[in-house]
Order: sequence, then structure tokens, then C-alpha cells
Amino acid sequence: MPLEIAPHAGFCMGVRRAVKAAEAIAEEGRRACTLGELIHNPQVVEDLRARGIVPVAAPEEAAGQLTLIRSHGVTPETLEALRRQGCEILDLTCPFVGRLHQIAAEAVAAGRTLIVVGEREHPEVIGTVGWAQGKAIVIASAEEAERLPWMARATVCAQTTFPPDRWEAIVAALRRRSGELEERCTICSATEERQREARDIAARSDAMIVVGGRHSANTRKLYETCRAICPKTILVERAAEIPPAFANNSSERIGMTAGASTPDGALKEVVTIMTDIENKTPETPETQAIPEEAGENDFMKEVESTLVRFRPGQTVVGKVISVGADEVIVNIGGKSDGLIRVADLSQKDVKEGDEIEVEVVKVNDGEGNVRLSQRNVVNRKAWEALMAKYNAGEYVEGVGKEAVKGGLLADVGGVRAFVPASHLSNGYVNKIDDFVGKDLKLKIIEVDEKKKRVVASRREVIREENEAKKAAAWERLEEGAVIHGIVRRLTDFGAFVDVGGVDGLVHITDLSWGRVKAASDVVKPGQEIDVKVLNLDRERGRIQLGYKQLQPKPWDNADEKYPEGAIVEGKVVRITTFGAFVELEPGLDGLVHITQVSPNRVAKVEDAVNVGDIVHVKVLHVDTEAKRISLSIRQALEDEAMDDLEAEGLDLPQEAAEAAEAVETVAEAVEEAAPEA
Ligand code: F3S
Repeated sequence: MPLEIAPHAGFCMGVRRAVKAAEAIAEEGRRACTLGELIHNPQVVEDLRARGIVPVAAPEEAAGQLTLIRSHGVTPETLEALRRQGCEILDLTCPFVGRLHQIAAEAVAAGRTLIVVGEREHPEVIGTVGWAQGKAIVIASAEEAERLPWMARATVCAQTTFPPDRWEAIVAALRRRSGELEERCTICSATEERQREARDIAARSDAMIVVGGRHSANTRKLYETCRAICPKTILVERAAEIPPAFANNSSERIGMTAGASTPDGALKEVVTIMTDIENKTPETPETQAIPEEAGENDFMKEVESTLVRFRPGQTVVGKVISVGADEVIVNIGGKSDGLIRVADLSQKDVKEGDEIEVEVVKVNDGEGNVRLSQRNVVNRKAWEALMAKYNAGEYVEGVGKEAVKGGLLADVGGVRAFVPASHLSNGYVNKIDDFVGKDLKLKIIEVDEKKKRVVASRREVIREENEAKKAAAWERLEEGAVIHGIVRRLTDFGAFVDVGGVDGLVHITDLSWGRVKAASDVVKPGQEIDVKVLNLDRERGRIQLGYKQLQPKPWDNADEKYPEGAIVEGKVVRITTFGAFVELEPGLDGLVHITQVSPNRVAKVEDAVNVGDIVHVKVLHVDTEAKRISLSIRQALEDEAMDDLEAEGLDLPQEAAEAAEAVETVAEAVEEAAPEA
């Protein structure tokens, strides 16, 4: 006789939570009362009564006692009445029901018409209507929905144990009766799961046993569901109720399920009986569902294993089945649901149906719930990822969160990191606040595995990156190469140029072919220039660069630029006893002999010109080899005077022209005799 037990048979999360809490109180030896029977199971109720947890019918009977609110919940007025009676209240309302209350209250507060789909007399529905300030319409069928008046804005929700198939039909009818219908399906998935499993098992079984209290709507519904599929279905509260004929039918496949208020003990009792029967049954080829070699203990272990299968610290994947204001309920497989408190949630937008990874914090939080944490899983993963990067010597990305004493707190992938002020930058940091909200590339420099904290440095990242840049720049550099750079700073002796992560110096003498007083005469900070690598001293890390080397040399084509006879402008830059040096362009000076500085004879050069004067000079001779240019101010003046006369239509007297030529010849002779400029 193969026996198949539904995975979700027995207590649901809400009921288990309530029963465990009551048992814990009884174990402490405290007396208490429950407002109504704690669950729809007479054995459990009697057992609790014997241990001092007594059901009462009204708040007045509970006066002054510790009062347990069952998973169905109660109205706010009832809670108030209990308070008035001086009761200490332990509210064991199932979180799913609590959510239903919240939906009801919010809908009414928003001025919407509230429709509760469920049994009007069911305590859960009564409680829900109370949370809606009595302003709810309760319906249980599509026909009732069709008869409702037109509603502009309505919200529909359901008793948590309402059959899902009927809900659909009712909502379809309500859509036709409302301009704007908010559909809040509050049917508990535990009920739905249980019903689905019952249907499936009933379909493949020859007989079904439904274990549970006869007054439990949930158990009755299970029974009806199974019976409709498998006519040989019985409902029993205790194992003793199993008819002998039913039990002794050795050849049939038996399915078993239990209502949400059926205690594990009752379920085990039935399983034990059926196992006994099976053990007395001669072997048949159909007994594979219970391994032949498995004894009673093994089989019971199998049953137990569906009840508790977790250990603290274990990571499991669960499905979110309810999202409440304070906690989220997650089904973590089989018949196990667990609670995540809001503080233990890392994903704030979690919604029903989401699959999330959670860690088992406590197998039993004292109220019969498995306590779960999503944050622990996320934190652990974040820490592991961070440590992997740390061990690999990789940098991490963080965001500055808060300036604290001595540094900055940063979030590094969900892990808190402290960055000391001295490690925030490679320079002095004036305001730590400037780093708050900023993305930071950091290097972990210290780890506290126990406290799961790290110390990180941005300065180290900057230093290492600069080192790497320098090394790469040195790799690229070679003497003679022409490279692009940016002028970073100027000094008395030249300009420092960044050539890709490393600075080289252009000495002031290498800035220009001409005479340069200050580097700023040639370049400015921030200016981008091409430079030639003149010398590399890898040992001392010095780079000598040249700028003028990339400029044309002024003497190279001086004879073309300044042909003899041309009159050009220049600046007197130096005066000697034998003449004045006139700069035609940077790096190109010519000499005006003392005899050529003025049309008149002068005793000394300064009588004609001074340093800084801008003068017109005539090019007398250019020697590019010897780098000499002879110039004449006097002839320039005379030529210009003659040009003026010609322009006025006057002939130059023959004698005057001859005299000028003679003077020129003399001047040349004098210049030849002059020392080199
Ligand atoms: Fe709660 Fe669902 Fe049970 S609503 S009491 S967990 S059936």
C-alpha cells in the first residue's frame, strides 16, 4: 500500500506560529487565554486548555489576563476592549491577515468602496470588516458581485483561505460593476498550494485521507476537493477514526493531506497507523513509495524531514509570498515559510513572486517561525567579492558616504570602508566633505575579518598610477625623439614640460635661438608644445628637452630674408665703442658701425642711438658662414630721403650721388676693420 503525503500537509506558517507561541507560554508555566479557540483543532485546543491556555469567548472573560489573538486576527475595537479589560495582549494575527487588514483600512481611508470576498461569519472576515471601520461589502459569489450597485472606485480583497478559482469569477463580475477596480488578491498561497497538491494526489490515488478538524473551513474545503476527484476520501481528526476496512485495504494507493490547523502530532499518528498497516501487509510490487527496507523510524524521519530541514547560516532560495509593512514572508521550500524583518531586507522593492536568496538566521525565532535574512546573504557576497579583489591586489570602486573624525566612510560594494584623511589624496585635503557622494577608486590596505571592516586608501591608488604612468613614459622616451608635452611650470632656468606622466626640463637656453630673459617670453604654463628629447638620465630620472631645436635657425637663410640693399626695421640691443648691434629677429643681430649710425659724424654711438631704439637699417652685407650682418642707419636714411625726392619728381644731383657712393665705400672699409660682433 503506497502512501503519498502532501508536502504542504499540516500547519501553515500562521497557525504554526500561533501554536508555538502558546506552547512556549504553557512551558513557562504561565496561564493565559485565547480569544476564541486558537485553531480549529479540538485536540490542540484541549491540550492547551490542560496546560493553562484557556479559550474565552469575549474580552470581558479575558479581564486582566494574558490574551492571545489567534491567527485570524480581530477588529481594532476588540483590541481596544481587551485593553480596557486590563489584558496583556499577544497578537498572533498571521502576517498575511495583517496585510489584509492594512489593505482594507487604506482602501476605506482613500474613499474607495471596499469589497471583501469571503464568508461573512468567518472570524477573519469579521476582523477585516472591523479594520475597514465596518464600511466593507462582503460577498462570496459572482452572482452577489453582479447584483452590486455601480461603484466608481472600488478595492477588492479576499479572505486568505478563499478558493482561488472562485475569486477569478467574482473579480471578473466586479470589473463590470466598477469604473476603477483595484484588485488585491490576498488569498494565502499556502491554501492554494495545499489545494493544488490535494487535487494532484487525489487524482493519482485510489483513496484519500484528509486529516484535520471538522470545524476547520480549510480542512473541509480540502476534503471536498479531494472527494470530488477521488470518491473514496475520508476526513479524520484522529488516527483512531480511520475505518478498519479502509486501513486494511492493502492493494490501494493511498494519498494523505491535512488542513492548515492539523498539528504535526495528528499527522504523525495517522502516518504511524498507516505504516503499521503497511508493515503488516504482504509485499506487493506497489510498495515502492515507502522503501522496503525502511522501518518505522526511517519513515517517520522522512516525514519529519519535511517539517524541519534548515540550519542557521544556511543559504536557501525562497519565493516571496507576502510583503508586509514590517516583514516579508518567504516560502523556502516544502511546507516551510520564513519571515524577513524589514531591517534584514536588502532589496526594498521586493514583491510577491520574487525569488530571493536568504540566509536562515534562526530555525525557530521563539514563535515558531524560521527567521531569515536577505541582508546577510548580500553582505556575505559583497564581502567575499571584496576579499577576492583584495587578495588579487585589485583596486575597488567606492562612494564617499560620510565625513567622520579622522577620515571618510565609504561604501565599497555594500561593505563599509574607512579612508583616513591622510589617504584621501596625494596632497593635503582641506575639506573631507568634498569627497562625500564622489566615486572613488580605492586600494584596501587593512582588513578586519571579524568586524568585516576595511581601511582603504585613495592616495595609494594615485601613487601607484603615477608610478605606472612614469614607468610607461620612460619606456616610450628615447633621445632624439620629438614628443608632445604640456608646459607645467616655469622657473628661472627654464620650463618643465609634462611628456606623458613625467616632467622634463627645457633649459632657458634651449627655448629659443634668440636671447631670452625669462622662460615666459617663449612659453606659458598649460601650453601644448612639441619638444625634442636631448638627453635622458635614467639613473637620476632627469629628462633634458629642447624647444628651439625644433624651430628654424635664423642664420640658415638670413641672406635670403635680408638681401643686401634692403631696408628693414630692427631694435638696438647693444652698444659698443665701434657701433650698435641691431636685432632683426630673435637670434639674428647685425652691426651698425659708428660711421653708419648717423648721417652726421658722431663722437660716440650713444649720440645717435640708444638701446631699445627701433631703427631703420639698410643691409650692407650678409655673411651666413661667419654669422655677420653689416647694417647702416645712415644709408637707410639717405635712401629714404632720396625715395622721397623721387616721389616729389626731383633729380638727385650727380655730385651728391657720387659723394654718397664714396662714403659707402669708406664705411665698408671701416667695418671690415671692426672687431667681430
Ligand atoms: Fe496565515 Fe495562510 Fe495560514 S493566511 S494562517 S499562513 S493559511
